[in-house]
Amino acid sequence: MSETVLAAVAWPYANSALHAGQIAGAYLPADIFARYHRMRGDRTLMVSGSDVHGTPVTISAEQQGVTPEQVIAVNHASFLDTFERFGISFDLFTSTGTENHAEVTQDMFLRLHEQGHIYEAEMTMLFDPEAGRFLPDRYVEGSCPYCDYDGARGDQCDECGRTMDALELINPRSRLSDATPEPRQTNHCFLRLSAFNDEIEEWIEPQEHWRPAVRNFALGMLREGLHDRAITRDIEWGIPVPLDGWDDKRIYVWFEAVIGYLSATKEWAQNSDAPDAWEAWWKDPAARTVYFQGKDNVPFHTLIWPAMLLGYGDLNLPYDVPANQYVTISGSKASSSRNWAIWMPDYLDRHDPDPLRYALTAMMPETADTDFTWAEYLRRNNDELVARWGNLVHRVMTLTRRHFDARMPEAPSTLSPESAALLQRVDAAFDEVGGHIDALRLRAGIQAAMGVAQEANRYLDERAPWAAVREDRDSAAETLSTAIQTISGLATLFQPFLPFTSPRAWALAGGDGDIEAAGWQRASIAPGTPLPEPSPLFRKLDDSLVDEEEARLGQ
Ligand code: MF3
Ligand code: ZN
Repeated sequence: MSETVLAAVAWPYANSALHAGQIAGAYLPADIFARYHRMRGDRTLMVSGSDVHGTPVTISAEQQGVTPEQVIAVNHASFLDTFERFGISFDLFTSTGTENHAEVTQDMFLRLHEQGHIYEAEMTMLFDPEAGRFLPDRYVEGSCPYCDYDGARGDQCDECGRTMDALELINPRSRLSDATPEPRQTNHCFLRLSAFNDEIEEWIEPQEHWRPAVRNFALGMLREGLHDRAITRDIEWGIPVPLDGWDDKRIYVWFEAVIGYLSATKEWAQNSDAPDAWEAWWKDPAARTVYFQGKDNVPFHTLIWPAMLLGYGDLNLPYDVPANQYVTISGSKASSSRNWAIWMPDYLDRHDPDPLRYALTAMMPETADTDFTWAEYLRRNNDELVARWGNLVHRVMTLTRRHFDARMPEAPSTLSPESAALLQRVDAAFDEVGGHIDALRLRAGIQAAMGVAQEANRYLDERAPWAAVREDRDSAAETLSTAIQTISGLATLFQPFLPFTSPRAWALAGGDGDIEAAGWQRASIAPGTPLPEPSPLFRKLDDSLVDEEEARLGQ
């Protein structure tokens, strides 16, 4: 039965290019998941967009001496280019700067306000006496009240992951002037999170399919007790507050960015000339909405966004929030300021997309932080992609071309037990790999697919069709035919992971038309099908790449 699935992907701040850690954290897993569901014929939508408000963007604009609009234009174009070149297949990648998003945000704000889930109150905020303005959270730094980490920002601590109010910081300092900010009174709107504590706890408690790290983190915060949070700010850059007398304030970026999942679905529906189509994902209780992100985003997607959805009413809560841990690079945490990162535009200027998709999937930080090294990237490319999968395709297709006139050989009507077993193995892999992808165990999924390629190589070595072709041509025909059917199946199994090379493998094996349209099953290749001239799927990489790439880190 076909399903309805939303891949909701974290909205990147439009203040810098994407790096491989963000790709591994959210965009690549979402893409694999969405491609798989599209291939199964499920009603699948994958959306996100540039997060254009918030202090990351204004801080970058100030540092570069340009307007926020200029920073956003450059980075939004860069995101789209990276997604295109890396095969991240969004149905819509929009922005929080659209009129549609502002409308959907203000509608939600007003409904929550009418229902009493948003209230106005005086609060104390940090004011920079030298700069003469209230300080947005990220403009304040200090020590974390929970874990003592000294570089905590006013919105969140990068060390322990807790969200907080800037006032809770110990020894706060202003990033604008280095002055010690002083508390001053100002009026703001608050989201009544405390009122949702029990309901959210009852909802999360039974979510046994969530990753333990995500569920435990959320339950931990619920047991400590949720605090109401200010959702407006004394700033000019952001979505206006739809209340009289609030002209000099804006809606807080985190309150509106999460609404992007809903507003983007609505935008997609309008673009498709079916304005009500968004309801399939948000109102049908059988629809599954899955939120892809890095671990620092967990409180917003497991607590704050669900509270907003509950307060608004009649919209689906997240089905799963498969947040990833972090990817470190050669043993150190990624850092933009130290240029310790693999910037996607740079990577894509120098290398092919599928080897990095493969390496990142094989080491995806699903349960713990994992470390990326170029040596490991090289090893996976050369020993796994080239030597196992690429070599299987190359051996089979060149032999068939040479000895069977570049056509799919005819297999006997009854296959030998080894041949039948291999095909059975391939066919069984569809449920196995598919089950892993659906449950967001992508490392296990890609490993299972590679295991089938390994098995096929063993089969080929045992039956040695290159020798058999001289004494027992029928045996060679059976072997190559079985291997080509296997390659057809493997191309499909690899497609969600490796969307650049899999269609090529599929075409080499005689697959017809679009590989994704052919569905999540092994397409059978008919005897006599003409087979194109083989060319290698992957390039063997030279060891010198490791030193060259490592030298770029931190430069
Ligand atoms: N821009 C945020 C970040 O990069 C993520 C926002 S996810 C959203 O951490 F859902 F709120 F949009
Ligand atoms: Zn902390």
